[in-house]
Amino acid sequence: MIIEVENVTKRHNDTVEALRGVSLTVAEGELVAVIGPSGSGKSTLLNLLGTLDRPTSGVVRIAGHDVSTLTDRRLSALRARHLGFVFQQFHLAVGVPILDSVADGLLYAGRPATERRERARAALERVGLAHRLGHRPSQLSGGEQQRAAIARAVVGDPPLLLADEPTGNLDSAAGRQVLDLLREFHGSGTTIVMITHDMDIAEWCPRRIRIQDGRIQDGPGRDGLGRDGRGEDGRGEDDPIPDSPALGGRGLGGSMADFRIASREAR
Ligand SMILES: Nc1ncnc2c1ncn2[C@@H]1O[C@H](COP(=O)(O)OP(=O)(O)O)[C@@H](O)[C@H]1O
Ligand SMILES: [Mg+2]
Repeated sequence: MIIEVENVTKRHNDTVEALRGVSLTVAEGELVAVIGPSGSGKSTLLNLLGTLDRPTSGVVRIAGHDVSTLTDRRLSALRARHLGFVFQQFHLAVGVPILDSVADGLLYAGRPATERRERARAALERVGLAHRLGHRPSQLSGGEQQRAAIARAVVGDPPLLLADEPTGNLDSAAGRQVLDLLREFHGSGTTIVMITHDMDIAEWCPRRIRIQDGRIQDGPGRDGLGRDGRGEDGRGEDDPIPDSPALGGRGLGGSMADFRIASREAR
């Protein structure tokens, strides 16, 4: 399991209990949508998974490491080796050419500057921005900025990519490009956990985790507490796809079947 969360709570201050006892596991290679109303605790959960924050109680294990026991130095190493994070607001450095921002994604990996730039160039090529290396964020469209942010997140080849509403600030065409990219990374083996408001996107994901009032909503099949009936490899490709209450019991349409076939072929 690349992610193990055991009975986690998170208090932001004395009054707000953003997570109230969350347990879940995510296996290598999964693509998971986290859904739920605004304020339900989705970002809080993703920030804990990304080690950007620590739980008030309970255990978060990433790639087997209990993050609350790690020193800051080892936490940085864990992030550099295992994690990529994509935000709704892109968070690219203002006025800095994207090649440099992406190369900075490798600072903690301890690679020489020339190699960092070479890998940054390759990552930007992979997201379709080879012709924009010297551009600053202000010179790019929202979709291009988000693709640059994805390049920064994946430049170190992390096995786990976390995305908080990655299409939330994009029009539908740019959003689709970003999703296609995420689909591509998932197809080549990256585990992805993505928060989304968009039910079409959630429907497109093989597994959904629904959060409400800081708790995971129990549902049939995969929407529950990691009791998803997957095999050892966590891919569950031959499992029947259960209907989800989150989708009004509509289940998954043809686009999902296409996606599963595409991601299988990509392996
Ligand atoms: N840094 C913070 N300080 C205080 N309260 C916070 C902080 N971050 C989130 N919250 C509160 O925690 C709850 C869950 O927030 P969040 O995880 O951002 O929800 P979501 O991403 O589902 O919209 C909300 O009530 C929110 O106001
Ligand atoms: Mg949020």
